[in-house]
Amino acid sequence: MRTPDRAPVQIAIDGPVASGKSTVAKRLAQRLGFAFLDTGALYRAVAFMALQSGVKPNDERGVDALAERALPEVVSDERDPRSYRIRLDGRLLGPELFAPAVSQAVSPIAAMPAVRKRLIGAQRAFALHRDVVMAGRDIGTVVLPQARFKFFLTASVDARVDRRWRELHDAGIRITREELHAEIVARDLRDTTRAVSPLAKAPDAIVVDTSDLTIEEVADSLERTVAAKNQP
Ligand code: DC
Repeated sequence: MRTPDRAPVQIAIDGPVASGKSTVAKRLAQRLGFAFLDTGALYRAVAFMALQSGVKPNDERGVDALAERALPEVVSDERDPRSYRIRLDGRLLGPELFAPAVSQAVSPIAAMPAVRKRLIGAQRAFALHRDVVMAGRDIGTVVLPQARFKFFLTASVDARVDRRWRELHDAGIRITREELHAEIVARDLRDTTRAVSPLAKAPDAIVVDTSDLTIEEVADSLERTVAAKNQP
């Protein structure tokens, strides 16, 4: 853990959907004793609020007005200070953020410049005073461009379809591989071509192709990089 006499260490992990970034980031944070934040949860919280309020996910003014009234916050989990919860309007959110309806609504919302601007503060504030591993799409490029370590995880579309299909199948959600393939290709396109903070590799990020690696193997590789650079 961090001692007060040194600056916090920030580790940014970006990558496309189902590249393994969130699971790897969480695993790496556990191994290093760092805090962990999956920033997608903040965008999901805004999408959740839009769905609850009957605001259409493509209604930028409507969605921004909601976010202005109740901005999601990242709060440390009382039981585990290295973990976090998302609080919205006094309510702690959890699995509801990962419901299929939220996953569908979130992409256009994450492309809204006004919403992105509002959510950046919460992400930076979380990284200010603690060692952190943060997963997202624009952490190394926009949120924490000064991060000490930046990783960009990739994987083939087929590998990502397989992973996500298994996850959804285990959760009892029925979708064909063909449908999922089309959905992932469409999400990649939206994430990489949006005008503000598109999914992009920072010039100084280390690329890791996770197609044929397990979570533990990817975490091993990242941990080795961090340990090598942190040698006295
Ligand atoms: O990683 P995820 O599927 O939970 O992300 C949810 C949405 O938020 C997805 O459309 C990508 C977007 N997102 C983003 O634009 N920037 C981030 N830093 C994190 C997620």
